[in-house]
Amino acid sequence: MAQAERRDFEGRKAFVTGGGAGIGRAIALHLAEAGAKVAVIDLDGGAASGVLKEIRAAGGDGIAIEADVSQEAAVDQAVVDAAEALGGLDVLVNNAGIVIIKRFAETTLDDWDRTFGVNLRSMFLTCRAMLPHLRDSTAGAIVNIASMAALRYTVPHLPYAAAKAGVVSFTRDLAFELGGEGIRVNAVAPGPTATAMMGRLTDDEVDSAGLRFVLSRMGRPEDVAEAVAFLASDRASYITGATLPVTGGAELASRPLRSEDG
Ligand SMILES: NC(=O)c1ccc[n+]([C@@H]2O[C@H](COP(=O)([O-])OP(=O)(O)OC[C@H]3O[C@@H](n4cnc5c(N)ncnc54)[C@H](O)[C@@H]3O)[C@@H](O)[C@H]2O)c1
Repeated sequence: MAQAERRDFEGRKAFVTGGGAGIGRAIALHLAEAGAKVAVIDLDGGAASGVLKEIRAAGGDGIAIEADVSQEAAVDQAVVDAAEALGGLDVLVNNAGIVIIKRFAETTLDDWDRTFGVNLRSMFLTCRAMLPHLRDSTAGAIVNIASMAALRYTVPHLPYAAAKAGVVSFTRDLAFELGGEGIRVNAVAPGPTATAMMGRLTDDEVDSAGLRFVLSRMGRPEDVAEAVAFLASDRASYITGATLPVTGGAELASRPLRSEDG
């Protein structure tokens, strides 16, 4: 990876939730390649261990932890274990998320609660547990993964869109509160990105998806990882409270009235 030439995270320790697959895996690998020791947190312990193996094979190090980020005791324990194993924590990436695609009329209260639990409640829990470590760090930074769904309608998943909109305001207000302590808080809002979360699409749909993007292709996990690494690094030392769309311009698009305007 070209970005590996940057060692922005040398000596730093990162905690990446949902790091066992998709965008979280790409973030964990990217930060490790840039010098960070990474705690890979995932509901799927085997997947987290697999990513730690990849990190070690590339010359990095870290710890794999199986935990459900929507559960208070599990998050508190994961933060204790990661900080102890890595010798502190500087960077928190709240990436774990789930999506349930259903129309509002079919959506259950359990769908709502599960979606908010993994996508938003988790951020309250991880940020609270991590705060003492971020305060001890000279490079404390949080990056939350929101979604293009926070910015515009995409598909029917109302709880997901509402939770991701919550991530945007959570990010803004936490940035305000922690700014005086030198801890930056930002978010990335990915557009449709080729991961298992998009698994319901056929190959044809993935290929033709490019046509809806201003930049003519679907997102890759590495596109999101690059933005996360930037926001977590000193290169973004004057940026806080921001939500950066990483969408290939997809949220800019609307159908023009005349085809020649498209
Ligand atoms: N893929 C996209 O198109 C897309 C678009 C916008 C935003 N996002 C967001 O990016 C993030 C990552 O999505 P992805 O596409 O890589 O998803 P993914 O389903 O490919 O991977 C998610 C990972 O999170 C883990 N996870 C799920 N629930 C968990 C829990 N309760 N505790 C701990 N780990 C848990 C899963 O085991 C999995 O390894 C999510 O927050 C998602 O909402 C994705």
